[in-house]
Amino acid sequence: MLIVVHLLFLLLTAAVAQYYSGQGMGRYQYGRSRGGGNGLRGRSPNPKSLPMKAMEYRSVVYNAARDGKLNRLKIFLDHKSKEEIGKLVHAKTNGATPLIMACRNGHLEVVKYIIEQCTAEIEQVGSVTFDGETIEGAPPLWCAAAAGHLDIVKYLIQKGAGVNKTTYTNSTPLRAACFDGHYEIVKHLVNNEADIEIANRHGHTCLMISCYKGHREIAQYLLELNADVNRKSVKGNTALHDCAESGSLDIMKLLLKHGAKMEKDAYGMTPLMAASVAGFSKIVEFLIGRQECTKHERIDALELLGATYVDKKRDMLGAINFWRQAMEDRSNEPPLPKPKQGSQVAAYENSEEVTNLEELDELISDPDDMRMQALLVRERILGPAHPDTSYYIRYRGALYADMGNFERCIMLWMYALDMQQTVLEPLSPTTQSSFLSFAELFSFMMTEWRNRPAHSIAFKDIHNVLLRAIMELEKGKADETADKDSSHFSRLLVIIMHLLCLMCRLQKIMKKSEDHSFKEVVYKLVRMKPIGTKGFSPLHLACSRETTNVGRYPVCSFPSADVAQLLMDVGADVNAIDLDGNSPLHIASSNRPCRSEVIRTLLRNGAHLDRCNKDRKTPMQLIRGMSINDIVSPLNYLTLQCLSARKIVKCNISYKGQIPKKLETFIEMH
Ligand SMILES: *[C@@H]1O[C@H](CO)[C@@H](O)[C@H](O)[C@H]1NC(C)=O
Ligand SMILES: *[C@@H]1O[C@H](CO)[C@@H](O)[C@H](O)[C@H]1NC(C)=O
Repeated sequence: MLIVVHLLFLLLTAAVAQYYSGQGMGRYQYGRSRGGGNGLRGRSPNPKSLPMKAMEYRSVVYNAARDGKLNRLKIFLDHKSKEEIGKLVHAKTNGATPLIMACRNGHLEVVKYIIEQCTAEIEQVGSVTFDGETIEGAPPLWCAAAAGHLDIVKYLIQKGAGVNKTTYTNSTPLRAACFDGHYEIVKHLVNNEADIEIANRHGHTCLMISCYKGHREIAQYLLELNADVNRKSVKGNTALHDCAESGSLDIMKLLLKHGAKMEKDAYGMTPLMAASVAGFSKIVEFLIGRQECTKHERIDALELLGATYVDKKRDMLGAINFWRQAMEDRSNEPPLPKPKQGSQVAAYENSEEVTNLEELDELISDPDDMRMQALLVRERILGPAHPDTSYYIRYRGALYADMGNFERCIMLWMYALDMQQTVLEPLSPTTQSSFLSFAELFSFMMTEWRNRPAHSIAFKDIHNVLLRAIMELEKGKADETADKDSSHFSRLLVIIMHLLCLMCRLQKIMKKSEDHSFKEVVYKLVRMKPIGTKGFSPLHLACSRETTNVGRYPVCSFPSADVAQLLMDVGADVNAIDLDGNSPLHIASSNRPCRSEVIRTLLRNGAHLDRCNKDRKTPMQLIRGMSINDIVSPLNYLTLQCLSARKIVKCNISYKGQIPKKLETFIEMH
């Protein structure tokens, strides 16, 4: 059981990470600078032409600057030519220059030496890491401010570094200093005319980050400078939201004194709701005590807070207290009864929200019912489009799976998936993470339950998930605006390959009707002709080793002869080519190590051993580590037709217009 607990907690943390990095309302925009997305890692690649000695020199300079070894640096550089020194101090290692590293690590003397003696460019940007987060395009001043080195900040400004210069994601040195509460640096930057209103690319300002990180002094200082207290971020977030989400009651009072207004963000959340969702009861109590708070808002806040106490704090008594307070409030004049619930939800075991105090008191004896109440309350107040709603349904499901109750887990996850597919844009990362979790769960159940009767893993569950994944893929294909670089599309396609692979494992025990409806789904996929990265068709993916890597936990191992066979059974084109002119057989032949059964499967289904890709390489030439003769007898697969075609191409015999069109294409692929 221990292993189970471990795995699912990992699944959960994966879900949390996904939530925060993609769709969540929160953290994403609070990073010092972070832009999100993987495309931004603009590291400079190692120049290939640099001779080895130069590489070594470069790392000597870099390491000495990073570690503050001024003498070493001097001994090494002093006798070098100006040109050579210039090259060495401007070179990047892992995206950072020596100057960036000296600023990051607080070595003032080294900074002075690099700037004055080596005449380093004072604004040259680079990547730098804080708490495991990589910030791209950071100027030296930004690095010193973020790391809290006042002496270096002073020095750089005195040398003319621009105080308003930002990182690639538009974070200023001032915002970096606010992030970790470096008050002295904040004051120094402001005294040197830093702009306090420059927001990062999420529209998150210096005041907001000070609120979120709870730096009261800095927030007060910025307010005294007349920082705009009612600015909104791209997602409609205000400084009040930031206080609510981080539990900074003191700062919140300060903001209100400076005229901050309660506004809704893009998810329709007021600061009061944000505090309820985050579970800060002190803030909720403070805000519902204010005159401007309506009865309706008060009740919503208390009910949400109760739900947070159930799921996040696991404090059932605390939750009941808030819910009771809300219930009493509902019955006070004028009465405000709970709205009628729509249809019952099977995934919630058909639970219904309690409507009076007696029912509420009965709840406490049934923790499971409490948990369902929490999900119901959240869904009603936040609505299905709010990421928290589906997140906590999945969270609850994972906890059930942890206890070995996979059936409930699947029901809840399926319900959450339905919700995501209904309200989110096609191919949303949140929906993808649901599909991946399913694949991981099924794979886990299969491996862990090897010795149990096979029917414990229901065909219909995987079938269901597969159907929905293909539906999602179709929607994504139709809606090209949703996924500009098509990376989401490719990823979902890879997840689908894993689901197919899991399904193949069940094929031996499938009933005839099941096998039929499974093939029907796969046919639907193949007919759609989805194209992944590098122009891969599903059959290419089935033959590629890289398909194995999809998430953090193993699901299936590729290449898979079973999946390849399955795809060809329903009509996948064995000779489809990718962007580089590779057929699936090319891909299968370039895997290291080669899997011979995949190659045999493809050949049995009519793949050409002597087809050329754009580099004019045939699969036969790509196989390494073993000879084609060890796998198959090539003579069985080489036809006279193929040999003639190759000869025609090789000898440049003209054929266009002299033979039937069909034969022309045949010759062209050789
Ligand atoms: C920074 O921006 C502020 C406000 O726009 C401006 O007043 C100040 O001169 C700028 N500082 C520098 C060094 O450009
Ligand atoms: C092949 O033949 C064509 C026309 O017959 C000619 O234009 C072309 O240069 C030839 N290519 C080679 C590689 O000999």
